[in-house]
Amino acid sequence: MRIAVIGTGYVGLVAGACLADSGNEVVCVDADARKVRALADGRVPIFEPGLEELVRKNGAAGRLSFTSDVAAAAEAEVVFLAVGTPEGEDGSADLAHVLEAAEGLARVREGYTLVAVKSTVPVGTGERIRRVMLQVNPGLDLDVASNPEFMKEGAAVADFQKPDRVVIGTLSERARALLGELYAPFVRTEKPILFMDPRSAELTKYAANAMLATRISFMNDIALLCERTGADVDLVRKGMGADARIGYSFLFPGVGYGGSCFPKDVKALIATGREGGLDLEILKAVERTNLRQKRALVQKAVRHFGALEGLLAAVWGLAFKPRTDDMREAPAIEVMEGLLGKGAQVRCHDPVAEPAARRWFHDRVEYARSIYDCVEGADALFVVTEWNQFRKPDLRKVKRLMRHPVIFDGRNVFDPARMRELGFAYYAIGRP
Ligand code: UDX
Repeated sequence: MRIAVIGTGYVGLVAGACLADSGNEVVCVDADARKVRALADGRVPIFEPGLEELVRKNGAAGRLSFTSDVAAAAEAEVVFLAVGTPEGEDGSADLAHVLEAAEGLARVREGYTLVAVKSTVPVGTGERIRRVMLQVNPGLDLDVASNPEFMKEGAAVADFQKPDRVVIGTLSERARALLGELYAPFVRTEKPILFMDPRSAELTKYAANAMLATRISFMNDIALLCERTGADVDLVRKGMGADARIGYSFLFPGVGYGGSCFPKDVKALIATGREGGLDLEILKAVERTNLRQKRALVQKAVRHFGALEGLLAAVWGLAFKPRTDDMREAPAIEVMEGLLGKGAQVRCHDPVAEPAARRWFHDRVEYARSIYDCVEGADALFVVTEWNQFRKPDLRKVKRLMRHPVIFDGRNVFDPARMRELGFAYYAIGRP
């Protein structure tokens, strides 16, 4: 099939590359000409395992191309909209880019046009897109389907190629047949394509993310309760997860959730509720707990040291989670700002997110090349992202290098008993 994807952020680029890889002819359109040039040269501006190879391979095979001219979407059988929906002033999703892209598209199309909306957009946006496009070009035979994307950063290619489910929101038979055919290669092994009405599809995406965020905040509350009662959250987590109705995934307490989706989508869903006269109290509590959790490590440090003035804090992990260089809403920002605000010096290390951190912190913090350079002379170590590289360091060496062997582990990567044996003052999340 001939496919166009408008927007080459995470979602658009991964979708474009994966759809090309399954044999379609894909053109990706992005207003940012510099980005388009880089992508056409096979350079991917984000760190995402497997993505660059896929872009290069399919580019070389002539199935994947990049342009800033939306006219390239004129002939596509399906046009995906995958532009960003940043947080607006009142917390609701800002649809300016989506509506602008839809207008531009309407100008270059004739006859039947199928738009599949991959951007995360509030309920009813599909209908707004439809109105805007028909205003610009009343002659269009237009279907606007909702096709939310559930991929995770760091595993985006694998998630797109082997999704748990594909959600398609449309009442049009023609759109249903086209999208069903396009996704057929990805759902071979009993994973469903769920067809539904557009509004339900739009809400599904927010509800899924909000539920996952709720699980995390719930577990962060339970972890705090463990700390107050002397229980071990790791055992509680296993005991809970063994119940098939609960399951093991997404039960890890930590330093709070970050990233480009959960914080923004929880806010946007609260805003949708507000617009409908509904106070979504659970989600407001989820946000409050998350902010408290992002501050938990620094609070533990203040309790341990009394004051942080003049101390050297080492921070392992900047990205909001492993296998990405994304620092959007990363807990590391709150942790490091908290440390700086209390007068500590900060030296940090991340396998890939240092450039992103430099854009935020500039020279307010030091950047270390390795985990060991990072801890040299440090008074405390903060583990903020659970990169595999941080799980099995030479802990004796770490202890030798540090001025004070104190660790605040925000991801529970170490074993408390072993840390005690090695002589560290060790603070984890929800563990004695
Ligand atoms: C999320 C959704 O998982 C994905 O389906 C959606 O398309 C986009 O949003 P992503 O933001 O890439 O994906 O990251 P995810 O792996 O879900 O993690 C989100 C945050 O939750 C991270 O900060 C992570 O550290 C945190 N988290 C996750 C926990 O604190 N505990 C857990 O048990 C799981």
